[in-house]
Amino acid sequence: MNTHRSFLKMKEESNKIAMVTAYDYPSAKLSEKAGVDMILVGDSLGMVVLGYDSTIPVTLEDMIHHGKAVRRGAPNTFTVIDMPFMTFNISIESTLLNAKRLFQETGAEALKIEGGIEVTEQVKALTNAGIPVVAHIGLTPQSVNVMGGYRVQGKTSEDAKRLIREAKALEEAGSIALVLECVPEKLASLITSEINIPTIGIGAGKYCDGQVLVYHDLLQYGVDRLAKFVKAYGNMNDHTHDALSTYVAEVKEGKFPQKENTYTVDEEALKGLYG
Ligand code: KIV
Ligand code: NA
Repeated sequence: MNTHRSFLKMKEESNKIAMVTAYDYPSAKLSEKAGVDMILVGDSLGMVVLGYDSTIPVTLEDMIHHGKAVRRGAPNTFTVIDMPFMTFNISIESTLLNAKRLFQETGAEALKIEGGIEVTEQVKALTNAGIPVVAHIGLTPQSVNVMGGYRVQGKTSEDAKRLIREAKALEEAGSIALVLECVPEKLASLITSEINIPTIGIGAGKYCDGQVLVYHDLLQYGVDRLAKFVKAYGNMNDHTHDALSTYVAEVKEGKFPQKENTYTVDEEALKGLYG
């Protein structure tokens, strides 16, 4: 299994890190089999798996439940789990108590928290307690209501400077990696060269040390609209629709099941049971 040291080495040697989200046993199993370097149990599960319209309703219990399933599917892949909305913002003590449960009950390798300077104390406290932290800046979906929508971050020089300061502060606080979400490519490239920990981009261009995409986006599975930064590598919507609608039609037409899908019994055994 990879460790945060091997990810540092990958950065040093310019070997890209491939990360994908997973939320359950099959997505984790298929991701591990495909050779992803790192799995993220993202709180995006609120949207792509649970059908909420943001990540805000996601609870610690949700993350534990899905995190455990992912671990069963990908026991040998470095797994990071998101701390959901308001589980790391109230106090250092409650952050540690929530992180303890999430880390211990799932067996993850690291936890991820959204935010800049305002979460550096949490990063330090978790790291001191033995829980590696992945940081996440740029577009931070848990703050969508404060940011006023899902939009590219770091477009003004003031904003860009703030993101660079945050990246350095989060590294200094002990983060093992940094997710950059929806940041212009040149700024992401600059941040990547300014810090020693790996950057993992989503909508942050090709110069990050790694990339992450949401499983259901890259497979187009139950998701109708794709953001500009997503590339669809499959189309499970069409594939699944074809399979399911053919099944429905065959049941109705009596074409399924066929002989090969059916169990038989010796006629003798049923003798006397016929009317
Ligand atoms: O929840 C998630 O899927 C994420 C990634 C987009 C980085 O945080
Ligand atoms: Na997330």
